[in-house]
Amino acid sequence: MSRPFLDRRVAVAPMMDWTDRHCRYFLRGFSPDLLLYTEMVTASAILRGDREKLLEYSSEEHPVALQLGGCEPDYLAASARYSEEWGYDEINLNCGCPSDKVQKGSFGACLMNEPDLVADCVAAMSEAVDLPVTVKMRIGTLRSNRSDLDEAVQRFDEADYDKLCDFMVAVRGAGADCVIVHARKAVLGNWPPADNREIPPLRYDVVRRLKEDFPDMPVVLNGGLKKADQSLDALEWADGVMLGREAYHRPMVLGEIFAALDGDRGYKPLSVAEHLERLADYAEREMTKGERLPAITRHLLGLLSHAPGSREYRRLLSEGARERGAGPELIRQAASVSQHT
Ligand SMILES: Cc1cc2nc3c(=O)[nH]c(=O)nc-3n(C[C@H](O)[C@H](O)[C@H](O)COP(=O)(O)O)c2cc1C
Repeated sequence: MSRPFLDRRVAVAPMMDWTDRHCRYFLRGFSPDLLLYTEMVTASAILRGDREKLLEYSSEEHPVALQLGGCEPDYLAASARYSEEWGYDEINLNCGCPSDKVQKGSFGACLMNEPDLVADCVAAMSEAVDLPVTVKMRIGTLRSNRSDLDEAVQRFDEADYDKLCDFMVAVRGAGADCVIVHARKAVLGNWPPADNREIPPLRYDVVRRLKEDFPDMPVVLNGGLKKADQSLDALEWADGVMLGREAYHRPMVLGEIFAALDGDRGYKPLSVAEHLERLADYAEREMTKGERLPAITRHLLGLLSHAPGSREYRRLLSEGARERGAGPELIRQAASVSQHT
């Protein structure tokens, strides 16, 4: 079955508590072609929880992929079906998150050690929907209680690569449309999630080799991408790049990447003032539906990042938004403190 085409060149990573619908609306302002991912939602929450609240998004967010967490093929298939009905553009399975909570549910990164189960999950999801089904993964895992932990975290040997290839064969065989590879190992056990995003070394070379060995499988590179040039270099061999923390803390990097990719096709990034005007209009609509201003403004703090006026800008948006009576005008006012409008 052929699935709808999605431009995968540039994506923003799923990030719990960060890439909520307000954040995604904001990021959409950087390009209509940016592929956005939701925070992870568990399959069982979709089946048993407040589905409306969990799946709600605005139509301007498209293209938007829903990330699912879970390890039961039937649950994942049923929640993928609901997500398709809600109009999402892709369903992604989380096989990369090593947090304690996720490990207790036996999903996320620990699924990398269960390629047959992941294949069953992907096959069930692919069967259930006509959308692309993708997998977000690591290059490998290890447990935190091994005696040679420090050395094993640093090492990536042929045995690790063979295991990674077995995983790829399984997900490709099950019909996955693309893999998004966070280019480091994940340490399972009681390691803090932040360490798991910093300490295991980035191995772009491993992801590149994977792409060379599986040329028919779309491969998106994730992990540690900061400067636009790094992403552009990776796009020489990868089908796409996915940015997480940098896109959140310095979203202008997205404009820099699209300017380089699509500048000759007329891409013109919005100015800071234009972004803020767009968000002020959005906040106006959301607040009439009962949303709180800080829930929106918290995602805008990185827009000026280290540019002149950024401290005053951040103070205005974070403290000002919590003051009684603060409204969308505050966002317009923030534009005026920027010297980059
Ligand atoms: C606050 C935060 C929350 C995250 N939540 C998720 C998540 O829900 N699902 C997931 O697959 N990865 C999650 N991640 C990992 C990111 O998607 C990404 O793989 C990781 O941050 C590496 O990319 P980066 O170096 O560009 O940030 C999260 C990362 C951060 C910083």
